[in-house]
Amino acid sequence: MCGIVGYIGYRNTLPVLLQGLERLEYRGYDSAGVACLENGKKSLFVAKEKGKLAQLTSALNGKTVSSTIGIAHTRWATHGAPSRANAHPHTDTKNRIAVVHNGIIENFAEVKEFLKTRGHRFKSETDTEVIPHLVEELNHGDLEEAFRKAIQRLNGYFAIVMISVDEPEKLFAFKRSNPLVLGVGKGENFAASDVTALLPYTRRVIYLQDNELAVLTKDHIHISTLLHQKSIRRQPTEIKWTLDEAKKGGFPHYMLKEIFEQPHVARQTLEKRIKQGKIYFDTFHQAVNKRLAKVKKVFIVSCGTAHHAGLIGRYMLEEYTRIPTEVQVSSEFRYTDPIVTRDDLVVLISQSGETADTIAAFREAKENGAMTLAIVNVVGSTIAREADFVLYTHAGPEIGVASTKAYIAQLLTLMLFAFHLGVIKKRISQTTLSDLLKELQKIPSAITEILKNEKQLDVAVKALYQKKNFLFIGRGYNFPTALEGALKLKEISYAHAHGYAGGEMKHGPIALIDHTQPVICIASESKTYGKMLSNIQEIKARDAIVLTIASKGDEQVKKLSNWIFYIPRVLEIFSTILSVVPLQLFAYKIAVRNQRDVDQPRNLAKSVTVE
Ligand code: F6R
Repeated sequence: MCGIVGYIGYRNTLPVLLQGLERLEYRGYDSAGVACLENGKKSLFVAKEKGKLAQLTSALNGKTVSSTIGIAHTRWATHGAPSRANAHPHTDTKNRIAVVHNGIIENFAEVKEFLKTRGHRFKSETDTEVIPHLVEELNHGDLEEAFRKAIQRLNGYFAIVMISVDEPEKLFAFKRSNPLVLGVGKGENFAASDVTALLPYTRRVIYLQDNELAVLTKDHIHISTLLHQKSIRRQPTEIKWTLDEAKKGGFPHYMLKEIFEQPHVARQTLEKRIKQGKIYFDTFHQAVNKRLAKVKKVFIVSCGTAHHAGLIGRYMLEEYTRIPTEVQVSSEFRYTDPIVTRDDLVVLISQSGETADTIAAFREAKENGAMTLAIVNVVGSTIAREADFVLYTHAGPEIGVASTKAYIAQLLTLMLFAFHLGVIKKRISQTTLSDLLKELQKIPSAITEILKNEKQLDVAVKALYQKKNFLFIGRGYNFPTALEGALKLKEISYAHAHGYAGGEMKHGPIALIDHTQPVICIASESKTYGKMLSNIQEIKARDAIVLTIASKGDEQVKKLSNWIFYIPRVLEIFSTILSVVPLQLFAYKIAVRNQRDVDQPRNLAKSVTVE
């Protein structure tokens, strides 16, 4: 949570910082702030506002500050409510040191008490404010040493960037668990929570590793380990993402752009992962496959939308490998005292690769000696780096808070992984595999077809957008799709929505049904189609308002539905990728009609880096 930008170089700092924040706003948006060192003056310029970045920009009102070094922050509150006082950057007593921070300082209360006894006065309720004060307290003429010592006194997980009037040609940065990437320019250098903030200026980046401290001047970056001060030499990585990929590309919202990118994402995933009729995982060599062959049980651990992908992953793995598979939400995993052994595989799914609950679950699995596999979108993220093996989903940057294209990529990757493991476990023959892969190739154009028909949802949306309660039902492979459809709708439209397994309706939820209740039914061709049809009949008999997602040409279910949206006919396993697309569009259209902030829904952040 929270976005950080730092700059040192020759440009006018303020616009660089504000542009960086704009790209990072998805990480949190309850307040924003900047701090710059003013050229020729021994003073800090600090501006911060509660609310979105636009509030800060309008408060600055085009102000120019003569400065070539500064830091900036967009916040998602953890300690202290959203307010101007709690917004970053935070400064020390004499207003000489400014700090931005992403993460949590677990022992901040104790550190604060100590600093108070030393005469420090605090202006905010944040944990962050102890950092500049502690650095001030420990500074005896060498700022780097004071920064290093201060961090050693802090417990928790965080990324920090700091500037000071005492050493105006240096930007200090530190990372533990939370992401921080350094941008390498010519006569300028950068620090940011992710690469999107750097792309207008440089494609050469260095991922800071845990417990590394960096000192940036305009011409040099020096990285060293926190404790032993060992210098680290690391070559920059070249970022291939186009700038355009990180922008809205003509769509009114990132979410819609990302929904429309799904055919491309699917095509790209298949191109990368299928070579000469075989599944190709670049990170899996012989030894990995040998270990996979011995796996006795699989755990899939993830949160939110990634958890729904995991639930479908279980159906896939059990069908194609017959390996028992357990799915858990990351926040519960550790607390169920899971029986994980060295023979098990723990699959962690995460778009951001930075979700704190999933990182904690990963560490639990690791301690138990399990083999860990990360299915992650953000290259170089914590989970991707720390897991034994990683399969990147290559969905490109996902900016909309509601996950769409990353979900499709997660499903495809899980599917290919299940087939791969099925082959290793000798549960699928090469012939079956090539038939499956051939079918799979039809998916990108099937998604395009659905997107072309998106307007067919409009009549239902117009009739339903003011409803406050929705039910979603599905069975088998598409039961988790119902959960995902409900999650999409509630997170961006704020209407209550609940997903159920179709067969569960009669065990309670059917009591909700009357002529006012909308039910969205996923009834595409499947093993459970007949049963699903009965479930729809049961709710229709009680006058529910029914919108059905069905396989093309299904006249039978059409008769039971107020509206129908057809998806192309594909195997049940592949239908999971198709049936979710109209549900994403449905949620999007309902939210837009209700004038919701689709890309930045209230109370949510793109990357949840607190437990
Ligand atoms: C919902 C959504 C969230 C995330 C969840 C996990 O649209 O985006 O539910 O799926 O917070 O995030 P990652 O995948 O980054 O671990």
